Amino acid sequence: MLREVMVRLCRRRMPLPTVLTVALAALVSVSPCVTGAHWDHAIFLDDDYRLLWSITGQDITFEVQARTHGYIGLGFSKDGTIYGADMVIGWVDQGQVHFQDRHVKKHGDGEPLVDSSQDYVLLLGYENQTHTVLRFKRKLDTCDVAYDVPITNDTMRVIYMYHNKEPHGAFYTPGSLPDPAEAFKQARSLFLTQRINQAPLKPDPRLRTMELLNQDVNLPQGDGTLHWCKMFKLNDINRKHHLIRYEPVFDSGTSASYVYHMILHECQGSSPELEIMSRENGCPCYRADKSILTCNSIVAAWTRGSEGFSFPSQVGYPLESNQARFYLMETHYSLTANEYSWPPKPKAMVDNSGLRLFYTSTLRSQDAGVLSVGMDPNWRHIIPPGQEHVVSEGHCVGECTQRAFPRDGVNIFAVMMRTHQIGRQIKLRQIRHREELLPIAHDRNTDWNYQEYRRLSAPVRVLPGDRLIAECIYDSSARAAITLGGLTTREETCLVLALYYPRQKELTTCHSLPSLPTVINSLGINELVPGSNPVRIASPPELSGMTLETRLISYDWRNNFRSFQYVTRRGSFKPLCWSAKNQPMPGTENLEGFAPNITKSYKLIRSCSFVGSTNVANVLFQNRNRYVTESETSVDRAAAAGSDDDDDDDIDSNNVIEGAARSKVSRSSVTESMGLSGGPATFRPLGAAPNMFAFLLFIIFLYSFRIAHRV
Ligand SMILES: *[C@@H]1O[C@H](CO)[C@@H](O)[C@H](O)[C@H]1NC(C)=O
Ligand SMILES: *[C@@H]1O[C@H](CO)[C@@H](O)[C@H](O)[C@H]1NC(C)=O
Ligand SMILES: *[C@@H]1O[C@H](CO)[C@@H](O)[C@H](O)[C@H]1NC(C)=O
Repeated sequence: MLREVMVRLCRRRMPLPTVLTVALAALVSVSPCVTGAHWDHAIFLDDDYRLLWSITGQDITFEVQARTHGYIGLGFSKDGTIYGADMVIGWVDQGQVHFQDRHVKKHGDGEPLVDSSQDYVLLLGYENQTHTVLRFKRKLDTCDVAYDVPITNDTMRVIYMYHNKEPHGAFYTPGSLPDPAEAFKQARSLFLTQRINQAPLKPDPRLRTMELLNQDVNLPQGDGTLHWCKMFKLNDINRKHHLIRYEPVFDSGTSASYVYHMILHECQGSSPELEIMSRENGCPCYRADKSILTCNSIVAAWTRGSEGFSFPSQVGYPLESNQARFYLMETHYSLTANEYSWPPKPKAMVDNSGLRLFYTSTLRSQDAGVLSVGMDPNWRHIIPPGQEHVVSEGHCVGECTQRAFPRDGVNIFAVMMRTHQIGRQIKLRQIRHREELLPIAHDRNTDWNYQEYRRLSAPVRVLPGDRLIAECIYDSSARAAITLGGLTTREETCLVLALYYPRQKELTTCHSLPSLPTVINSLGINELVPGSNPVRIASPPELSGMTLETRLISYDWRNNFRSFQYVTRRGSFKPLCWSAKNQPMPGTENLEGFAPNITKSYKLIRSCSFVGSTNVANVLFQNRNRYVTESETSVDRAAAAGSDDDDDDDIDSNNVIEGAARSKVSRSSVTESMGLSGGPATFRPLGAAPNMFAFLLFIIFLYSFRIAHRV
C-alpha cells in the first residue's frame, strides 16, 4: 500500500518520541516528504480548509491543507464548543515546522494551551505559495484522559481554526498564539470512523446516472429553515436495475452551504396524490404529510460532511418502475445553523440541488432492503420534561423476525440512527435467546442534524428469532413540558434504519409502542373509573376521584421519574410488524411484548492499559473502548444508575403541557384503536394533528371502554 510505505518513509526521517515534554515540543524539524498519499476521506470544512484522513488499525492519520501562511489547528470537542476541546496547532516558519498537542480549558479564555503529554505525531509539514499543509497521526484513543478526546464510533464534533499570523519566540507560553477566538471557525459534526471509502466505481458500460434535482426552490429569507419535498416518478426503468451509489449535486458553491440534508424516500404503490405531486415542483414538507406516510422507506440519505454512499460490491438497491415508481426527496435548507463564517445571506435565491444516483443493469448478487426498527412515531412515546437521562426502547420482537427472515438470516451493513432535538445517544442492540450480542451500532453523541447511513466495518447477521432493540437516550432538561413521539422536529423519534441483504418483503417496519395500560401506569395510575366523564381515577386510593386532566397537569415528574422510567421499560408494549405493503404481517396483529430477560449483556468500558516497557519514552497504550459482557443486568439497576445524574437537577418542575406539544395519529394507534372499537383495521385518518390533551383523553376513553367491556 502506497500510504503505508509513505508513512514509514516519513517516519524514519524524524524524531518520534511518544511522550514529548513541553520543551521538546518547541521545535520539530521535518524534512519535506511531499509524496502523494492515498486518503480514504476528504472534505472541505470551508473553502480554504481541507481535511483528509485515513484509519489503519488503531491509528488515524490526518492531513490539513489550509489557505494561509499563519497557524492552523484541528480539534475535537465533546459538545461542539471550543471549551474542553482537544487540539493540535501547527505552522511553518522559515522551513521549521512547529507543532503541538494542545487543549482548551473547560472554563478558560478559549486559548489552546500545550498539553503535558504530546500524543500527536507530526509526519510532514510544509508551505507552498498559497497553503500550509500538516500531516500527523494519533491513536484513536490516546489515553490522555485529561486533555485528549478519544476518536470513537460516535458522531465527532470537529473543530478547526486558521489565522494569517503565527506566533514568534516562546510560543508555548500562554498568550503567544495570535487571536485564537478569531482563528476558531466552527465545529462540524462528522463520522470519522464507520464511513464508506470513496473508492471509484468499477468500470461498467451499463452504468448510468440519474439526477433528482429540486427546481428553483426559493430559499427562506432571514433566519428561516425550509424542509422542501419533491416527488419524482421513475417511468423508464422497465427492468430491474441496481442502485449502487449516490452523491450530492449542488447548484452552486453558495447553495452548497445552505443545503443541510437530503433524504430520498421510496413510496409504496401509486395513488392519484403521488401522481399529482410528481407533476409539481414540490412543496414545503408539512404540506406533504400524507405522502410522507406512504413513503416511509429511506433509500438514500445525504448530510453535510458526507461524500456520498456506495453499496458494498456484492449488493445493490433494486430500482424498477413496476415495483416502486414514486420517490420523495426531502431537502432541508438552513440559513441559521453553524452561521459562524458563512457567506452573507443572499437576498433572494433559488436552488436546484439534489442527488445523483448511479445505477446499472449489471445486477449484483444481492438485493438490499431497508428495515426500520424502533419506537413507532406516536404520542404514546412520552418523554418527561426536566430530565437529563430518559431511556426509550423500541423493540423488533423475535416473533416478527422469526416469521420474516430467511433461515440464514439477513446481513445489516449500514445503519442510520434517528432522533430529533433532544436525542443524545442511540444504540441498536441484538438479543439472541437470552443473550445480548455485541451492539450492532452505538452512538453516544448524536447530532440530529447530521444523519446519514454509516457503514459497518463488517455486515452483522441477524437470524430469525433474534430481537433488535433501538435504545435512545434523551436529555429533556431544557424542556419544561412533556415531549411526545412524532415526526415533526419538536416531537421525538427513536428509529434505526438498517440497510441489509438479502431483501425480504415480509417485514419493512418493525416497531413497538407502549401499551395503553403501560402509558396509564407510567403516570402513577392503576385504574380509571370505567365510563366516567370527565375521566376520573379509581385507584390508587390517594388519587381516587381526581380527574385525569388534573393528574397530568400536576404530575411531579421530578419525584416520579424513576418509577415512570421503570414502568415504561418493564411494562407491556405492542409490537408493530409491517410488510412492504404497509399492512401488519399475518399472525402478528395481536402480539403483546415485554422487555427481554437478558442473562448476559454488553457494556462499553473505557480501559487504557499500559503495554510494554516501563521506559517513559516507550510507553504504548493498548486499544481502549471495549465492550465487555456482563451477566444479569436488570432495568432496575440501570434505572438506578441512570438516575444518579438527576440528583443535582434543579429544574423548576413546571408541568404545564404546551399546546405546541401536538402530535399526529400514526397508523399503529389508529388501527389498534379501531380494532378496539370494531372499525375497519385499515382506516387511517391521515394528517390529523389535534393537541395531546385531546389524545390522552381519547385513549383514556378507549381504556375505560375496554375496562367496561371486560367487566
Ligand atoms: C499548495 O498546496 C495545496 C495543498 O496540497 C494545493 O491545493 C495548492 O494547489 C498548492 N498551491 C500551489 C501554488 O502549488
Ligand atoms: C466501532 O464499530 C466497529 C464496527 O463498525 C466495531 O468493530 C468496533 O468495535 C466499534 N468500536 C467501538 C469502540 O465500539
Ligand atoms: C422474565 O422472567 C420473569 C420471571 O423470571 C417472567 O415472569 C417473565 O415472563 C419473563 N419475561 C420474558 C419476556 O420471558
